[in-house]
Amino acid sequence: MSTTQESSPPICDYEGSGYRQDFWQGRGRDYEDRVERIALRRLLPRSGRRILEIGAGFGRLTDELGGFEQVVLLDYSRTLLAEARAHLGDDGRCTYVAADVYRMPFQPGSFDAATMIRVIHHMADVPAALRSIRGALAPGAVFVLEYANKRNLKAMLRHALRRQDWSPYDPQPVEFVRLNFDFHPAYMQRAVQAAGFRVERRLPVSYFRVGVLKRIVPAGVLAALDAAVQPWGPLYAPSVFTRNVAVGEGPDAVGEPLRFRCPSCGGDLLAGGDVLTCQTAGCGARWAVRDGIYDFKEPL
Ligand SMILES: C[S@@+](CC[C@H](N)C(=O)[O-])C[C@H]1O[C@@H](n2cnc3c(N)ncnc32)[C@H](O)[C@@H]1O
Repeated sequence: MSTTQESSPPICDYEGSGYRQDFWQGRGRDYEDRVERIALRRLLPRSGRRILEIGAGFGRLTDELGGFEQVVLLDYSRTLLAEARAHLGDDGRCTYVAADVYRMPFQPGSFDAATMIRVIHHMADVPAALRSIRGALAPGAVFVLEYANKRNLKAMLRHALRRQDWSPYDPQPVEFVRLNFDFHPAYMQRAVQAAGFRVERRLPVSYFRVGVLKRIVPAGVLAALDAAVQPWGPLYAPSVFTRNVAVGEGPDAVGEPLRFRCPSCGGDLLAGGDVLTCQTAGCGARWAVRDGIYDFKEPL
């Protein structure tokens, strides 16, 4: 994985990464995968018209979005989207979009739901990312956001033992590795509200993410315990899932066919063959559609 500064803010670029093989497949994270699915099912509406999966990666969680008529997988990595497409297929229900979350290529108000799981911890400018997401959503849309929680039990213990130089109680995000941030729940709550959402529910997730526990207790048992704690546990787990609702005024294009817009200038795009061309005078950017993926990373 590399980091690019081609646009501001910088992006944690997973192009060509082995995220699935290196992080999930046979890597002892069955427990995390299970509890994330449980939290997602608790927070996401059962059905809807069009959902945006932000930072979808290789589509690990896309099968949880089955109640939606249309699913748009957005990710900055074309290679991960190609993996997603290889197993989810191209039946018209899923649309694959390579783009930067800070520069959404959709007409405002296009979605009635969105998810963003294990992604915002890569965002150097959280307010800008959340504003961009809010713009793609219609009023009333549900946005399920997961973030890495700096105020977790392990960090609190390490801090108490003076084995960690940052405080889990400081509301400011901590960047523990370049473009990898942990967030305080109070910080994220304020940021989400400031971007135009009402925070409806927050669940602590992955309480039992402890190496020794995961080795001796079967993943199914740990996941059942986690599921029991999620509804009432204090927010001291390493991961927090939140259900947020888009508030305020804004366009609602959910009932219309999905329309892309130019991520450079916001202008209308005209489709011709495998190219979408911006109609704005002075822009004219051309965007490719390759192997079933709309590519808005950089113009042709
Ligand atoms: C840790 S992976 C999580 C993938 C998936 N949500 C999951 O839970 O399996 C982070 C994903 O965020 C994507 N990502 C990071 N920065 C992005 C950005 N600025 N715009 C779009 N996607 C981004 C990466 O390409 C990567 O697929």
